[in-house]
Amino acid sequence: MKTLMHKPDDAINQAAAESRVVIEAGASPHGSSRAKRLEDLDARIRVCVACPLHKSRTLAVPGEGKAGAKVMIIGEAPGRNEDLTGRPFVGNSGKFLDQVMQGTGFNRTDFFITNIVKCRPPSNRQPKAAEIETCTSLYLLRQISLIDPRLIVLLGGVAVKTMLGLKTVEEARGRIIKHEGRKFLATYHPAVRFHREDLAVKIHEDFALLKQEMKRL
Ligand code: URA
Repeated sequence: MKTLMHKPDDAINQAAAESRVVIEAGASPHGSSRAKRLEDLDARIRVCVACPLHKSRTLAVPGEGKAGAKVMIIGEAPGRNEDLTGRPFVGNSGKFLDQVMQGTGFNRTDFFITNIVKCRPPSNRQPKAAEIETCTSLYLLRQISLIDPRLIVLLGGVAVKTMLGLKTVEEARGRIIKHEGRKFLATYHPAVRFHREDLAVKIHEDFALLKQEMKRL
């Protein structure tokens, strides 16, 4: 991991530059304006002060991947490692997610990976309803409409509740759900792996379903 610079502004600029490289790498020749708009949104997220989570964050985590990704993956909120690096799913949950994604024959650069909220909640508590409402209306919904993925994978209860209005992952998983004109596949949050091996197995099963579905996208 790179050492963070001392000045927060430098760290923000560095994180924004790194994310720009990832987004541009995924831009198709015809999709450059989409990549540019995503990049502008990314820059706005990095300096956002619209909800109280900005006060305790180190870096905001807009998300990364191809601007033209067919599949978007949405988690809950950045954790400690993500807060320090400005990148999504780079800690222990992310390592497990990388492994599971590789089971689809793809890797993380083929997806666009982000979270419901873009700043780490203190002590990794769940994001509050008002934080979710602010962050999704300002950023996540715009990211979805810019990327226009063919399928959205939801990781964990917060993503399932926010995007589908369902109460639990159980009621949503194991099938493709059509909701408000988009296709979704829900599964458990990769952090379950550290306390529920049985649910980790189900994440693998759900990604096997994703692999099948990706052939049709
Ligand atoms: N957990 C999440 O929900 N998102 C991350 O980016 C990291 C851990």
